[in-house]
Parts: sequence; structure tokens; C-alpha cells
Amino acid sequence: MQALPMRSVLVTGANRGLGLELVRQLEEAERPPRYLFAGCRDPESPRALDLRNLAKRFSNIKVLKLDVDDYGNIQECADQIGKILENNGLNLLINNAGVYFGGDLSEVTPETMMKSYRTNAVGPMMVTKALLPALQRAAQLSDELKKAAVINMSSSLGSMELFDNKNEIPLAYRISKAALNMVTKCLANELKPHGILCISLHPGWVKTEMGGEKAPLSKEESVRGILKVLSMLSDKDNGSFLDWRGQRLPW
Ligand SMILES: NC(=O)c1ccc[n+]([C@@H]2O[C@H](COP(=O)([O-])OP(=O)(O)OC[C@H]3O[C@@H](n4cnc5c(N)ncnc54)[C@H](OP(=O)(O)O)[C@@H]3O)[C@@H](O)[C@H]2O)c1
Repeated sequence: MQALPMRSVLVTGANRGLGLELVRQLEEAERPPRYLFAGCRDPESPRALDLRNLAKRFSNIKVLKLDVDDYGNIQECADQIGKILENNGLNLLINNAGVYFGGDLSEVTPETMMKSYRTNAVGPMMVTKALLPALQRAAQLSDELKKAAVINMSSSLGSMELFDNKNEIPLAYRISKAALNMVTKCLANELKPHGILCISLHPGWVKTEMGGEKAPLSKEESVRGILKVLSMLSDKDNGSFLDWRGQRLPW
């Protein structure tokens, strides 16, 4: 099975953390993507300075405003990508943007529940919907079935089978990632006839603003693993839940 081509890639939440590291390592690859779209909700803010500096050095990196909570903006961003790609199609969509709200039942609020659900589950689905024509185009460009993929950055905390009551219980986060896992299953089923794979991916517990200082994994190590897993994806992985080492996780 031919490896998934990474000629055109969109990473959401690309201004910091794992998203920025994904852009960095994709750019450092032996064959960097021709089009590397870096979605970021506020490209002009100080939080996007590192991404802007990276994009100044490499003309294939296009920084685009993409707030996954804003459906109008998602469509504008998809239109911009479509214009830049023309007939080339989008090979890889990495739905990486995410939010984390901690807290158990005594602390959870409707606002933290809804915000988590909107950003972590609804956002990835709507971004995929808006980019479907570009993903389909990439999948149609060749006889090979496996030419385009959607990667949903999930978490082992969203797994029901791995539920461990000794762990911290970030209710809103866990529930939103469990919902995202169902998004993966549904999209894997619906997009399969189009030759588009969809998987959930757990990046490990990683030192980022979200993961915190105690996390055992560096961004560099996690992303190296993720990109290796992505390069080896095949049809049999469609609709599965993998971690950064390529190990299957239970739902
Ligand atoms: N770190 C871990 O240990 C870990 C473990 C399991 C899963 N994950 C998952 O991996 C992904 C990346 O995590 P991370 O550790 O890199 O988190 P992070 O350091 O907190 O970065 C989160 C990124 O998402 C962006 N974002 C948040 N809401 C957004 C929105 N509405 N629209 C667009 N972008 C938005 C942030 O942008 P702003 O700068 O604008 O806020 C930021 O770029 C997340 O989905 C997370 O759930 C992380």
C-alpha cells in the first residue's frame, strides 16, 4: 500500500503546542508539503508570533484565520484553501485545535460543557464538512484509494474502556473527546466510499500549555511519533483510535 501523500496539509490550532510543532516538523521533512496551511484563530496576535516567524521563512506555509467555533469563518477559510489549491485537492486535514476545562461534577458548568463540545467535537466535524470537496478532489486524483485523510486529535481521556477513576476527572474535556471519537467513527463510515480515511489520534500526555509541565512527553517526541503513524496509515486503520506510537486504543 502506497504511503499517504502529504502534498497539501491543513493543521488547525497551529499557532502553539502540538499544532505548531506539527507544522515545524512537516516543514523539516525530506519532502515538505507543497501547501502547508496553518489555521489559527488570531493570526495577528502575539500568540501567533512563532507561527508568523516560521511562515516568513518558508513560502509554502500559509497562515490562515481559522476559528473552529465560527462556522462562517470555517467556510471562508475552506474557500481560500480551495482557491489556492485549484485542482490539487487537500491530502491531509489534522483537526488539532482543542480546549481543556478541568473539574468534576461539583465544578462543571453548562458553559464549560458547551464550549468543550463546540470546539472539540462540533468544530472538527464542521471543518471536515467545509473541506470535503478539497479532500474528495485529492482522493480522486489517483487510482489509489488511500489519498486523503482526516485526523482528529483526540485523547485517551475520551476512551470509555480506559476510564480510570483514580485519574483527575475533567468531565467536560473527557465527554467532548468521547463525542469526537464518535465523530471519527461516523466520518470513517461516510467518507470511506470517497477514499478518505478518518482516525482518532491520541498524542500522548505532552508538555504544552494544555498538558502542563509534569507531562512526560515532549512536543518534538510526540509529533515525531504522530508523523510516523500518519505516514504508515492504510485502509485497515480507517475508523480506528491510535496513539502516537501507532498502538490501537479501545473506544
Ligand atoms: N497536550 C496533551 O497532553 C494532550 C493530550 C491528549 C490530547 N491532546 C489534544 O491535542 C490537541 C493539541 O493540544 P495542545 O496540547 O497542543 O494544546 P494547547 O497547547 O492548549 O493548544 C491548543 C491550540 O488549539 C487552539 N484553539 C483552541 N480553540 C480554538 C478555536 N476555537 N479555533 C481555533 N483554534 C483553537 C489554540 O489557539 P489559541 O492560541 O488561539 O488559544 C492552540 O493553538 C488538542 O486537541 C488536545 O485536546 C493534547
